[in-house]
Amino acid sequence: MFPRGRKILLGVSGGISAYKSCDLLRRLQDHGFIVDVVPTQASLNFVGKSTWEALSGRKVYMDLWSDVEKIPHISMAKENDLIVIAPATADLLAKLAAGRADDLLTNIVLASTAPKVLVPAMHTEMWLNPATTENVDTLRKRGFIVVEPDEGRMTGTDIGVGRYPESTKIIKAIDDALIATSDLVGKKIIITAGGTREPIDPIRFIGNRSSGKQGFALAMAAASRGAQVHLVTANTELPNIEGITVTNVETAEQMLAVLDLEFPHCDALIMSAAVADAKVVNYSDFKIGKESLNTLALIKNPDILKSLSGTKKPGQILIGFAAETISDVKELEANATAKLLSKSLDMIYVNNVAGGAIFGSNVTQGLIIDRDKNIIQVPEISKDTLADILLDQLVSKLG
Ligand code: PMT
Repeated sequence: MFPRGRKILLGVSGGISAYKSCDLLRRLQDHGFIVDVVPTQASLNFVGKSTWEALSGRKVYMDLWSDVEKIPHISMAKENDLIVIAPATADLLAKLAAGRADDLLTNIVLASTAPKVLVPAMHTEMWLNPATTENVDTLRKRGFIVVEPDEGRMTGTDIGVGRYPESTKIIKAIDDALIATSDLVGKKIIITAGGTREPIDPIRFIGNRSSGKQGFALAMAAASRGAQVHLVTANTELPNIEGITVTNVETAEQMLAVLDLEFPHCDALIMSAAVADAKVVNYSDFKIGKESLNTLALIKNPDILKSLSGTKKPGQILIGFAAETISDVKELEANATAKLLSKSLDMIYVNNVAGGAIFGSNVTQGLIIDRDKNIIQVPEISKDTLADILLDQLVSKLG
């Protein structure tokens, strides 16, 4: 699957309140969701396809017969973390209760195992009609979340129950439905990935073997748990993750410059990047001749974590990584603890990279150590799994 943050499918059926879903779409985007809109044919009488494409910034599919080779109903069913249908008309509720699938939206619903939130909106008489009541009961029994409509002014002069609710009420239902995977909603997390490069001349640089896989795994995991993620990445060749902010840097100083600006506004920083400890004293604008390469004067790079931890505000969490070439676990632990203390970190993950291990690999193993000297031994696991373990720890530290 293409890497991405949290994604929602917004189905729109043919009710006058379809226009209110334009606001819902915007609020969902503000909430950090990527939103795909699937309108029914009837809904286009109220809001056109171009409006949805302009607001969502994404192509809008409406039928089963476009891009057939991509099997749109199955791919969209799998790709989305949740489906919300707003407004859901009486006709659409009846179709879903009957398990019918005669257009793209109903096909996606039938094919999807994601949580589904329905937002009925219709005239009071239609809402209170026993047929609708029975359909809603059936859908609730099958696990659909049905948001109760509001009471108030209807289209025309009628007043009653059946109104499309405020966007905040719908978003609350969505958050509740995603609660198991929403423990970082509202948190801003900066993650660094990759390895910095320190140029020697226009051709050469001092660098390291980091691929960025660990940092990207952290960014993906944090985004899918609802965090607002800013990924600061150095010299990686991984595809961008849809829905998260990415800043590309080359050197340690550039990384520090970005973090100096962003760190004051975040809840947590996770430094998985491998930062070059030194750079050349004098960068040469021209290729240095082989004869002059016997000695290169180096100077230490700024320690980014140390510099940021000096500005840390109460409540902010700093997580570092440590790459060591030590096989003895006690020694590894001692070295990592010393780094944790010297850089004033809340937590550190230390891995033994002897022989180039872990760099570029899909798996990792090591120790997680925190300031209270709690230690978690991490056996060989995927970098994705480590990302979730570290985020579980982060959630408990953020409170
Ligand atoms: O990218 P992958 O291929 O997936 O590989 C993952 C990894 C091996 C790069 C990762 O697991 C890892 O170990 N990252 C940290 C590498 C590192 O720089 O370790 P260190 O022990 O040199 O530094 C300790 C900490 O200080 C790190 O969080 C580092 O980002 C930070 N640092 C280091 C130097 C510096 N000048 N400023 C820093 O802030």
